[in-house]
Amino acid sequence: MKKAQKALLEWYETHGRHELPWRLTDNLYHVYLSEIMLQQTQVNRVRDEYYPQFLEKFPSLKILANAHQDDVLAAWSGLGYYSRARNLHKTAKLSLDGLPQTTKELMELPGIGEYTASAVCSFGLGQNVPVVDTNIARVIKRHFALLTPKVKTLWQKAQEFVNVKEPRSHNLALMDLGSLICLPKNPKCEECPLESSCLGKEEPEIYTKTKKTVYENMELFLGVCIKDNKIALETSTQKMYKDMLVLPNVEPIEENFIAEFKHSYTKYKIIVKLYNIEEITQDVRWIDINAFSDAPISSLTKKARKFI
Ligand code: ADE
Repeated sequence: MKKAQKALLEWYETHGRHELPWRLTDNLYHVYLSEIMLQQTQVNRVRDEYYPQFLEKFPSLKILANAHQDDVLAAWSGLGYYSRARNLHKTAKLSLDGLPQTTKELMELPGIGEYTASAVCSFGLGQNVPVVDTNIARVIKRHFALLTPKVKTLWQKAQEFVNVKEPRSHNLALMDLGSLICLPKNPKCEECPLESSCLGKEEPEIYTKTKKTVYENMELFLGVCIKDNKIALETSTQKMYKDMLVLPNVEPIEENFIAEFKHSYTKYKIIVKLYNIEEITQDVRWIDINAFSDAPISSLTKKARKFI
């Protein structure tokens, strides 16, 4: 175990992604924000766009707590999984004296599960806790030849493996190993610092049986009502887009057809059809069509704008 830990740290020294901005800070709010963003979004998109822009708008947890939810959702616009932004905002409001500093207390806050709590305590505070995300889980499964371990077993193994002297670097190293070397398909075992102790190296692919995403097709008929350069948008009550501003659903009338386009979101493959509407009966907000980027809208709505 000691030898593997040492080899891992040495590899991290030279090959780790040390320059990621959330690894260069000990601001707990920044670390927490990065973990929430990184949950469903690629590292480069978070690093180059959303993380710096969000922090420019909401540089502290207090400023975030005092912000209007619309502005928080607008800063999340295009990132998807908008409940992350709502929970972030709720957590800020509940943490006026700063974020708590134990996994147990962090997990009592909205949107913070075991992974996020551990990541915050490990990466932000250097605490001696294990961290298990999808990448680390794959490394642990292979290294210890755990074919179908229970979640609890994985966390226990990760706990046993943590380097108590360097827990933060150890966990970051495992994360990088998972995303750079111990890949789901065609892992680069010959470059891996853990190769000599890895119990799964003979058949690395048997540890990565993942469920195939089952896509659902759907059609959406959306109404476009514009007056004085303002467009009518509704506050969504749908779980997926709760509190976001969306185009209203309409009955399709052929002569009012404007355009159609395809859009993918989570497990949905959507055909969106846009229709002109003269009058609107729904309860709506009128948003300046040139100020879309300040509104809490989804990628789908942004795409629709191009056809309007
Ligand atoms: N560094 C710290 N947390 C990370 C994450 N979730 N993804 C990529 N790099 C990270």
